[in-house]
Amino acid sequence: MAKITYIEHTNKEHVVDVPNNMSIMEGAIQNNIPGIDADCGGSMACATCHVYVDEKWYEKIPLKDEGEQDMLDMAYEPNKNSRLSCQIIVTENLDGLVVRLPSKQK
Ligand code: FES
Repeated sequence: MAKITYIEHTNKEHVVDVPNNMSIMEGAIQNNIPGIDADCGGSMACATCHVYVDEKWYEKIPLKDEGEQDMLDMAYEPNKNSRLSCQIIVTENLDGLVVRLPSKQK
């Protein structure tokens, strides 16, 4: 279980507990957090689960692979902290993780 903070583009914060082995995307969907569409259900085929990982956390989460990067290239306004939230799996090590949501998903 990890406490995850999702910050909407309006700066509205949502702090929720997400169980281990669930993705950051699933944690958002289960808690009705707006801003993550997840059209493909987590199979890395849509980029509508795009988030910006907080600077302090970016180096602490597992690296993205080439397939994720390819999808991120299609995301709305990606930057160097962009990740697909369906590819970040919750562990105790992510307790306190902060992600920001883009103003829209493509
Ligand atoms: S939910 Fe589609 S790429 Fe993450």
